[in-house]
Amino acid sequence: MSSPLVISNLRKTFGGLVATNDVSFSVAQGESLALIGPNGAGKTTIFSQIMGELRQTAGTITLFGNEISKLSTPARIREGVSRTYQVPRPFGEMTVAENIRVGLMPDNIWHMITRSGNADRELELALSVGFSEDDLKRTPSELSMGDLRKLEMARTMATGPRVMLLDEVFAGLTVGEIAQIAALIQQMRKDGMTFLIVSHDLKALEPLVDRAIAIEQGTHIAEGPFAQVMADDAVRASYLGAA
Ligand SMILES: Nc1ncnc2c1ncn2[C@@H]1O[C@H](COP(=O)(O)OP(=O)(O)OP(=O)(O)O)[C@@H](O)[C@H]1O
Ligand SMILES: [Mg+2]
Repeated sequence: MSSPLVISNLRKTFGGLVATNDVSFSVAQGESLALIGPNGAGKTTIFSQIMGELRQTAGTITLFGNEISKLSTPARIREGVSRTYQVPRPFGEMTVAENIRVGLMPDNIWHMITRSGNADRELELALSVGFSEDDLKRTPSELSMGDLRKLEMARTMATGPRVMLLDEVFAGLTVGEIAQIAALIQQMRKDGMTFLIVSHDLKALEPLVDRAIAIEQGTHIAEGPFAQVMADDAVRASYLGAA
């Protein structure tokens, strides 16, 4: 079987800035891979290129053997990849249930507002990330950061992904909320999901991943078991340099 996700010589420049410097890596079936690096290293830019929200300057992205690098974002989602955002992006005027519905019906975003969705599936997704049934009626302005991150997870899961990209899933959360999201990721790993996870909370991240890749200033600098990558001299220097 082809690798769920293969990134080859991915390059992204913004004027003179090289945000992704010919980065290559792959994620195996059922694997959970950490993507680490200091602020501005280029982690989110890699996610945006995988999703087609930013077009790469050069290089390719392959999902289960199919090159997706030139597809639209909705087409990539249909191929089985989806992401969460570092800054949660709910539709502010919609309830939790409606936000999840957008993930369930990505091609029918306006159509769906006038129709009822699949209420059972919305509830199932909401419960699976730790919402209560009452939370379905809430709007994003009523939610804590932990709830907003749960909603990001539910919307991403609603698209039926085979590969999930999680960007800073723990940022702004309490210890209890981190434990909830971590338990959800662990459950999904058991169920066979493939993950690429970005987090500055390295302590929370370590038990959730099989392997890590470190980047600095857009360049791949280390790869291997998490502890080995964290002990790498170049990785340590990159974090100290950013401090
Ligand atoms: N749309 C853009 N236009 C110009 N420069 C950008 C754009 N998006 C990102 N950059 C730059 O690319 C580099 C990588 O940014 P990116 O957001 O990918 O880093 P990151 O590793 O996700 O950082 P953080 O940990 O702070 O989220 C930074 O120097 C950033 O300023
Ligand atoms: Mg980022």
